[in-house]
Amino acid sequence: MTARGRFVTLEGIDGAGKSTHAGWLADELTRRGRRVVVTREPGGTPLGEKLRELLLHEPMTHETETLLLFAARREHVEQVIAPALARGDTVVCDRFTDATYAYQAGGHGVPLSAIAALETFVLHGLEPDLTLLFDVPLAVSRERLERAAAAGRTLDKFEAEHGAFFARVRDAYRVRAAAHPLRFRVIDSTQPLPAVRAVLTRIVDEIVR
Ligand code: TMP
Repeated sequence: MTARGRFVTLEGIDGAGKSTHAGWLADELTRRGRRVVVTREPGGTPLGEKLRELLLHEPMTHETETLLLFAARREHVEQVIAPALARGDTVVCDRFTDATYAYQAGGHGVPLSAIAALETFVLHGLEPDLTLLFDVPLAVSRERLERAAAAGRTLDKFEAEHGAFFARVRDAYRVRAAAHPLRFRVIDSTQPLPAVRAVLTRIVDEIVR
């Protein structure tokens, strides 16, 4: 029987630099002999990508947002994540359920109990084996987003949120990391790129061991 693959997720507030590292991590894992599936949330399936468009650009209540995130997640797990893990592949996923705890509960105040209930209903206990939290102070995240906006990129609904929202999201992530110390690695994302890569290289060593 094939051993179940490893499920690795990347998290952090907008502007933490997480997505830049997802591709590098996947390439490094591939170079070290792993079959890797790189994916993201919201998204990862044709329906999930359509829901992503709505989630990032349409105004909606926080409850609707939470339900659509879990709807997209259900399809993603069914079509992509669970089959890949069953094949023994390593899944590198840019955001997963921790983002809902951070953004919808921490940021928007959706009750934790509602998210926990949806998590049980939709995921039946599936959680990442390893979660990399790219952490930056609020000022750094704001500066990176403002630079992106000044360079002509239109910010999405979440990126355009105010500083207090991101402060709550960051706190919620850190609380989750502290509550799940074996699963989370908190990475100081203000470090220069080579220093972050060195940390990621050590993490790859652990994954392929
Ligand atoms: P991305 O920019 O990292 O691809 O993420 C898209 C946005 O979606 C980001 O601002 C965070 C938000 N988001 C949530 O609010 N809740 C979630 O559960 C997920 C997966 C993403």
